[in-house]
Amino acid sequence: MITELCGKDVFPIGFGTWRMGGEMTANSAHDEEEIKAIKYALNSNINVIDTAEMYGAGHAEELVAEAIKRRDRDKLFIISKVWPTNLSHDKLIRSAENSLTRLNSKYIDLYLIHWPNPIANMREAIGAMEELIERGIIRHMGVSNFGVNDINKAIEAAKKYDIAANEVSYSLAKKDAEDYLIPFCQKHKIKIIAHTPLARGNVLKMKEVVELAEKYDKKPSQIALNYLMKRSLPIPKAVNIKHIKELIGAIGWGMDEADYKKLSEMR
Ligand SMILES: NC(=O)c1ccc[n+]([C@@H]2O[C@H](COP(=O)([O-])OP(=O)(O)OC[C@H]3O[C@@H](n4cnc5c(N)ncnc54)[C@H](OP(=O)(O)O)[C@@H]3O)[C@@H](O)[C@H]2O)c1
Repeated sequence: MITELCGKDVFPIGFGTWRMGGEMTANSAHDEEEIKAIKYALNSNINVIDTAEMYGAGHAEELVAEAIKRRDRDKLFIISKVWPTNLSHDKLIRSAENSLTRLNSKYIDLYLIHWPNPIANMREAIGAMEELIERGIIRHMGVSNFGVNDINKAIEAAKKYDIAANEVSYSLAKKDAEDYLIPFCQKHKIKIIAHTPLARGNVLKMKEVVELAEKYDKKPSQIALNYLMKRSLPIPKAVNIKHIKELIGAIGWGMDEADYKKLSEMR
């Protein structure tokens, strides 16, 4: 089963790397286990990896580089992000070049503005993104955690290329994006990438999720991701191999429409 992301066929679940390689600072203590997890995900056909210059102060990107070494780069889809304090032209270009070096890669498939920055110049930031596309450093540009107003500004600022994706917090515990943001993005052909899709584990205990897991003989994580795939590409993170195996089982089956509706209406 595949889906489409920026014109490329990808597995319908991606893989997150926040809290790998540290948090706001680098931590190498768990490198081996985290590289093993990323490799396990890749060996299970997951080919979208989400990372950022901020994750472990760049160390997460180095772990991704290690995990993708000797793999066919063109079959992978790597997302990275620029931190909102680096949105001036020169800083953004330098951030992308540094990410590329840490990723030990020829290009980044999708480069996102990690968060909106109300005092940054959107045209300058998007212009720098467009320059990166022209230089072949990134293939597509997008945004993350942008609401409708900020996306409109990004769309207006884009002169040569489209805003390809918006990566937002979207899970069964946080479905507000369904009201306006997702329909708006769909209308503008902006792909929704669902970050924190398990609400860091909180959705797994929700009564309705547990009941549906029993009904379909699935795990709660599989119900949660299967639901999100209707409108987005979810990017869960897992280091535990048992968890990764479970996540893969979210695809290739469906629920009755009434159950998707029930989950959608759940508040
Ligand atoms: N753009 C943004 O601003 C932004 C913000 C937040 C996150 N993100 C991206 O989204 C990714 C996912 O978000 P997240 O890491 O914050 O949270 P998440 O994916 O919702 O939850 C991750 C947690 O769930 C656990 N887990 C995974 N699979 C499980 C399973 N099958 N059963 C039980 N527990 C399971 C993981 O445990 P183990 O690790 O122990 O396996 C981990 O503790 C991030 O890694 C990052 O790439 C982006």
